[in-house]
Amino acid sequence: MVRNLAIKTLNMVQKKLKEDQEDDSFNRKDSMPKKEPGDIKLEVEDLSFFYGNVQALKNINIKIPSYQITAIIGASGCGKTTFLRCINRMHDLYSKNGYSGKIILYPDGINIIDKKVDPISIRMRAGMVFQKPNPFPKSIYENVAYGLKIKGIKDKKTLDEKVEWALRASALWEEVKDRLKENAYSLSGGQQQRLCIARAIAMDPEVLLFDEPTSALDPVSTSKIEELILELKQHTTVIIVTHNMQQAARISDYTAFMHLGELVEFDRTEKIFTNPSNKLTEDYITGRFG
Ligand SMILES: Nc1ncnc2c1ncn2[C@@H]1O[C@H](COP(=O)(O)OP(=O)(O)O)[C@@H](O)[C@H]1O
Ligand SMILES: [Mg+2]
Repeated sequence: MVRNLAIKTLNMVQKKLKEDQEDDSFNRKDSMPKKEPGDIKLEVEDLSFFYGNVQALKNINIKIPSYQITAIIGASGCGKTTFLRCINRMHDLYSKNGYSGKIILYPDGINIIDKKVDPISIRMRAGMVFQKPNPFPKSIYENVAYGLKIKGIKDKKTLDEKVEWALRASALWEEVKDRLKENAYSLSGGQQQRLCIARAIAMDPEVLLFDEPTSALDPVSTSKIEELILELKQHTTVIIVTHNMQQAARISDYTAFMHLGELVEFDRTEKIFTNPSNKLTEDYITGRFG
C-alpha cells in the first residue's frame, strides 16, 4: 500500500516532467499578459508565529519563486495554514497572535509582517482561496465586483469588463454568463470555488494563496481547479497547501515539507518526490506517517 502510493506518485512526477518538456501551450488566456518565471517573490526569514503562548511556526526560512507553483505539504497540524495566513496578514484579526522575523515581498522589498504595513494593502496584493468555498451571499456578479468597488472602480462598463475577464480566467464564464444576477449559493460547490478564485484574481493579486482548495470537491471539480491553477501561474505566484501528495506532484514546481511547525525541506517537486534529502520527508511521502 505504502509502496503503491510512492510508485503512483513517482509515475505522476515523471509524466508531468515529460509533458512539461513536450508542451507548454495549455490554453492561455489572451487577456492576461504572459510573465516569465525567474525571480524570488517572497523571502521568508526566521519567521516564527505564536497563537498566544503556543508557537505554531519555528524559524521558517524559504524563498518562494515568482510565477511558479509552490506546494506546502505536511501532516495535519504542522503549521501549513498558519504559514499561509501570515502571508496575507490574516492573523492580525486576533490581537493575541504574534509574529517575529520577516516576510519580504518583492519587487518593492517591504516586510509584510511589519506592523507599520497596512494589512488591507497586503490582502489586495496577496489573495486567498480557502478550503471551503465561501462566496458572499450576493449575486455571482457582485461577488466578483465587490473588491473592485472597494478599490474605487465605479464605472459600470469597467466593472462589467473586469468581472467578465475574471470569470473567463476562472473557467466559469460560459457556465454563468446568463445568470450573473443569481445568488452565488445557487452554484455547485466546484462552481462556487471557481467563483472564489474569480473574486480573488479580479484584484490582480501578485500572490495567490490556496489552502486545500479542492479537499471539499469531487474529482471532476478538482481537476478543473487544478487546470486553472496551472494556468494562473503564468500571471501570478501561487502557493498551495495540500494534503494530497498526488496533487502536489501533479501541479507544483516546488514543494515545501513541514513538520511540527518547522520547514524540513524545500526543493524542486521532482526532487522532493523522487530523492528527498531528509529522512522525515521520505517517510512522509512514502506514507509512513501523516
Ligand atoms: N487559533 C488557534 N489557536 C491556537 N492554536 C492554534 C490555532 N490555530 C491553529 N493552532 C495550532 O497551530 C498548529 C498549526 O495548525 P495549522 O496551521 O492549522 O496546521 P495545518 O494547516 O498544517 O493542519 C496546530 O498545533 C494547531 O493546533
Ligand atoms: Mg490547514
